[in-house]
Amino acid sequence: MNINQVKNICCIGAGYVGGPTMTVIANYWHNIKVNVVDINQERINAWNDKDLNNLPIYEPGLDILIKKTRGKNLFFSTDVESSIASADIIFLSVNTPTKTKGFGAGQASDLRWIEISARQIAKYAKGYTIVVEKSTLPVKTAETIQQILNAELTSSIYTTESKSFSVLSNPEFLAEGTAITDLEKPDRLLIGGDDANAIKTLEDLYKAWIPHEKILKTNLWSSELSKLTANAFLAQRISSINSISALCEATGADIKEVARAVGSDRRIGDKFLNSGPGFGGSCFKKDILNLVYLCNYYGLHEVANYWESVVTLNSWQQHRISSLIVNKLFRTLSGKRIAIFGFAFKSNTNDTRESPAVSICKDLLEEGANLAIYDPKVNKRQIEVNLNLQSSRNIANDNISQIKKFEAIEDCVEGADAIVILTEWDEFKIVNWEKISKLMRKPSWIFDARGILNQKSAIKAGFKVWSVGKG
Ligand code: UDX
Ligand code: UDX
Repeated sequence: MNINQVKNICCIGAGYVGGPTMTVIANYWHNIKVNVVDINQERINAWNDKDLNNLPIYEPGLDILIKKTRGKNLFFSTDVESSIASADIIFLSVNTPTKTKGFGAGQASDLRWIEISARQIAKYAKGYTIVVEKSTLPVKTAETIQQILNAELTSSIYTTESKSFSVLSNPEFLAEGTAITDLEKPDRLLIGGDDANAIKTLEDLYKAWIPHEKILKTNLWSSELSKLTANAFLAQRISSINSISALCEATGADIKEVARAVGSDRRIGDKFLNSGPGFGGSCFKKDILNLVYLCNYYGLHEVANYWESVVTLNSWQQHRISSLIVNKLFRTLSGKRIAIFGFAFKSNTNDTRESPAVSICKDLLEEGANLAIYDPKVNKRQIEVNLNLQSSRNIANDNISQIKKFEAIEDCVEGADAIVILTEWDEFKIVNWEKISKLMRKPSWIFDARGILNQKSAIKAGFKVWSVGKG
């Protein structure tokens, strides 16, 4: 099948990866119908909402592209069966969380959704179909998918009609908050596989906007392992700079100055050297733990321990920040109001998965604090579910009265003893500290876990200030 024969694309999983990726493809291929399917009806309804402010994910630039493509050649539905049946190419973009029980619990990926999807493809696909792994997966998952599809070819349970499959790995490297730019101008596009024709078709799909020299082709396993390794390297840089932030605070060095000096070496580079409250997001921790599991599986225990320490350091940084907040506030938070600025795991997203704010807020709640939370994109219910104050079935926990969500910074800080900056939203960089200071109880603190504060103006306004890597 060449690219001109591709008429329908299906993507299973309308999440942070599947949604934006398919929107960009639809925008470059007006003659291809792109069906994004998901088992979650609520999420699909949100993708189809007339009001683009209600899209299930916030991503700069996404709404403009949705407006151009939705209902023309881009469709969101729960119609998994017929979308698979009509597809020439199927992208697998379902979630692969860390297993919570059984073998490999806490480290290995839970592949149940991948298996379910592969079985659905095996059952409903017609003719020749290229199956593309988009989700980040443990090495050799493509083999599992292939085996499930092959089993269908040799069985006649579902249909007698002939079908065939090629499985490719095509990991996504987009970061949330910059997804559209990352998709349109990627550093590289990776295609792993051994079927030259299928690879050529997928390559031609992307060549509509990605230059030839940016497309890397590898075998399946290299492709899968490259994604895990890239995320592990990125996370490792953050743990490295965060470890030095603690040393800066102890010695009087300044982490920003150190990061600038270190990053000026072109061999090291200046990106991803911002010290903060530790990395969050759905991928870093999960993918490193996956790598750790893989190494242990192959008996490479020293390698496993090396990578696991990146995750250990990350949790340590979060608890270190919670603990110093308690210490500075006279070792008790009981009944005190703490204003939390930012709950998302980074700015420009509404995603809170593995957000450092979750762990730090839980620590503060344990100490008896009342949390007043402000985040421009995260909603109240999501915060309550993340902090285990409300189950997804709307059952409230006793501690729910300890948190309140505010829509304005001024209301959030009223009577508070401290502000803790946990997400680097631009609006926190331009706060009028004089005005805010008047609303708070004295002595009032700002704990700047992102290092974005203009310290001089905060101190001038009467605040006591702690900044990560500066003390
Ligand atoms: C997910 C993985 O977490 C990541 O490792 C991978 O690289 C890409 O897929 P993301 O898009 O951020 O990332 O996940 P999420 O936003 O949870 O979206 C996955 C979607 O798949 C959900 O909407 C879920 O309802 C859907 N899904 C899951 C299905 O449609 N069918 C299933 O069987 C399982
Ligand atoms: C990451 C990878 O960057 C992306 O390539 C992959 O496809 C998915 O995982 P994402 O998690 O969306 O993307 O965001 P990213 O920008 O990498 O940030 C991850 C976390 O690291 C955030 O919590 C962020 O605040 C933190 N971070 C990032 C730092 O603490 N310091 C930095 O210098 C950079």
